[in-house]
Amino acid sequence: MIRLEGITKHYDTGSRRVTALSGIDLAVAKGEIFGVIGHSGAGKSTLLRSINLLERPTSGRVIVDGTDLTALGTKQLQEQRRKIGMIFQHFNLLSSATVEDNIAFPLKLAKTPKADIRRKVSELLELTGLTEHRFKYPSQLSGGQKQRVGIARALAADPQVLLCDEATSALDPQTTNSILSLLLDINERFGLTIVLITHEMHVIRSICDRVAVIHEGTLVEQGRVVDVFLKPQHPVTLEFVEQVSDPVELPPAADLAARLLKITFLGERTYEPILSKAVQATGVTFSILQGTISKLKQVPYGQLVVKLEGDGAAIERTIETLRADGLDVEVA
Ligand SMILES: Nc1ncnc2c1ncn2[C@@H]1O[C@H](COP(=O)(O)OP(=O)(O)OP(=O)(O)O)[C@@H](O)[C@H]1O
Ligand SMILES: [Mg+2]
Repeated sequence: MIRLEGITKHYDTGSRRVTALSGIDLAVAKGEIFGVIGHSGAGKSTLLRSINLLERPTSGRVIVDGTDLTALGTKQLQEQRRKIGMIFQHFNLLSSATVEDNIAFPLKLAKTPKADIRRKVSELLELTGLTEHRFKYPSQLSGGQKQRVGIARALAADPQVLLCDEATSALDPQTTNSILSLLLDINERFGLTIVLITHEMHVIRSICDRVAVIHEGTLVEQGRVVDVFLKPQHPVTLEFVEQVSDPVELPPAADLAARLLKITFLGERTYEPILSKAVQATGVTFSILQGTISKLKQVPYGQLVVKLEGDGAAIERTIETLRADGLDVEVA
């Protein structure tokens, strides 16, 4: 759905040149929720704004739904941009317009017939849970309600892509979760492709399918959230993972009569008694030294560090059984 090829962006301010992005290659599939995480100043907003060319890259190509946006003239670009909605950290609503007029704004600009606007706005109010607030002004709304207006407005033109620039960073944790659920609901209902940027791993873990980590303008790691989360490769990624959970770490090898294992479970297997069945069959004993069970998007996962004690050959057989059962097992 979206392809960024070799995106580089320099900002020239007086005599100083800031390289905000260098050589970014990314592909976002249709219907997925793709997260980009990075520290402040990493280049996240610049990257997101390159997707609709609010920020024109110094070099590289931006291809959305098969069209190279960087090659278009102003008029064609405007046309293509209707496929791309955007929401912002500080909502960017018109303070002098009601909720309903804020949502209708892009439709009026596109000269949509009045009856169609009314129908569409009612649908969007319903979808975002704002029906009872339709005649209020932004100053009369909470942060979460303002972001719902932002989402409704972004969806008014039936976009195929929604770009979210730190859409929950100004909200408290509970409101953040309600906005994330709304985004997930929209993604599932309409197959809308969502690209969101954030500095919070919680956001990535809650709703994203894949994630890219950017650091000082370069892409340092990307992959499925489950893989990046459970096995972070880059130190910056590890820092972000540590925001939401203590890493489960395999200590150095113990004495010969014991082996230390780090076992990773994913999906429904998390709830199966695989470990206890394996030790019953081989007669070794185990103790759990560290562990966590949680969810990534809706997928349950678990990581455990266990100490197996007993006969050496039986321990080896236990490890083989666990691996044959499809678990990821690291041995100290
Ligand atoms: N219009 C601009 N002119 C000059 N430099 C800019 C401009 N916009 C961004 N930069 C610089 O580019 C780099 C990347 O900025 P960007 O806003 O993309 O980062 P970010 O990851 O979104 O940060 P934050 O989390 O603080 O929003 C920073 O060094 C920033 O100072
Ligand atoms: Mg930013």
